[in-house]
Amino acid sequence: MSDKYTQPKIDIEFDKNHIWHPYTSMTEPLPVYPVVSANKNIITLESGEQLIDGMASWWSAIHGYNNAILNEALTNQVSKMSHIMFGGMTHAPAVNLCKKLVEITPEPLTKVFLADSGSVAVEVAIKMSLQYWQSQGIKNKTKLMTVAKGYHGDTFAAMSVCDPINSMHSLYQGFLPEHIFTPAPSSRFGEEFDENELEILESYFIEHQQDVAAFIIEPIVQNAGGMNFYHCDYLSGLSRLCDKYNVLLICDEIATGFGRTGKMFAVEHANISPDIMCIGKAITGGYMTLSATLTSDKIAKGISEGAAGVMMHGPTFMGNPLACSVACASIDLLLTSSWQRKIEDLNSWLIEFLAPCDDLSTVKNVRVLGAIGVVEVNNIVDVAAFQKQCIEQGVWIRPFGKLIYLMPPYITPKEDIKKLANVIYSILDI
Ligand SMILES: Cc1ncc(COP(=O)(O)O)c(C=O)c1O
Repeated sequence: MSDKYTQPKIDIEFDKNHIWHPYTSMTEPLPVYPVVSANKNIITLESGEQLIDGMASWWSAIHGYNNAILNEALTNQVSKMSHIMFGGMTHAPAVNLCKKLVEITPEPLTKVFLADSGSVAVEVAIKMSLQYWQSQGIKNKTKLMTVAKGYHGDTFAAMSVCDPINSMHSLYQGFLPEHIFTPAPSSRFGEEFDENELEILESYFIEHQQDVAAFIIEPIVQNAGGMNFYHCDYLSGLSRLCDKYNVLLICDEIATGFGRTGKMFAVEHANISPDIMCIGKAITGGYMTLSATLTSDKIAKGISEGAAGVMMHGPTFMGNPLACSVACASIDLLLTSSWQRKIEDLNSWLIEFLAPCDDLSTVKNVRVLGAIGVVEVNNIVDVAAFQKQCIEQGVWIRPFGKLIYLMPPYITPKEDIKKLANVIYSILDI
């Protein structure tokens, strides 16, 4: 093979000394593992080791890696146009994608704003809610309400509605807007519902309704804030309270959308339709960064009739044709696959193979919803040590806090779910 095709060794020393990775120190960084390729649900390290992927690249690569159909969508588009500004221009990949999004999301969501990442989709949703009330001549609705233990991204407005402790609000005190936090939902998905939760929630609405533009929540699963699966009645009750007290409901489906919980969107578990919905991650098929914020005719009309007359946002890479083309192909692939069956299979395998962890003294709780499996342990996990053991046993898992979880690509075969679960068991069996 000529030099042209041999990959130079990844300069891990340069990486360590110069490159910031997510949530790490620059002086004492967590180890990073050089990757050379990924195919289906297998990641290949530079060392030649092959790892079964339990993370789907932070829940985005639902079809696995190097998918022939997604590759084709990308390469077909690249020869036509890899990017064109969306200000004053449009193109088939964006139009086709937005048609699909309007079709598969709950009915009142008909207007689509394409954004660059999950966090930006949340920023846009927040702006929409604020602009809506401004345009109605209601000037004091400038606060947001949300539950504790949520996670909505790392940009400032998104961070301001993340759990204040987990996202270290104290670091940015004085700069970060202060919003209203209600207790985290506590009735578990599939268990009995405690109606008191809604009474407590209503008391916040009664106190703050005049000031609150929107309530933002991750439907059914609180993801990076604690991997909590909460009761459908909480979400449907919240939706009723939003209607009753004139507060918009923003549902952040960035982690849950596109089948992960067993429904195409998690709001379907509670049969509700939010005023604004954010989607991201799995929309990309794991290829190129993209997200979207959808809203109803009513909200869009309200915003457009306001003094500004426009929605005040417009990223350079808005509606990137490559990202939109792959997203279209990814959605088609999902819709034409028997995805519900796949999620049911993954669900039953996760339940079966993670169950033994429940008997370990190091484990507090094992829970599974859709294609999400969580092992909550009693003590904070040492990520570096845990990952080293994972690599040695041929799997890729990234825990946080006291949570070890699996959100694998939907194509993961049964034996690989078994292996992922067995590795977790073996590491926790001390
Ligand atoms: C529910 C939710 N919202 C928003 C985000 C932020 O998305 P991104 O990392 O693409 O900005 C995440 C990311 O984990 C998420 O889980």
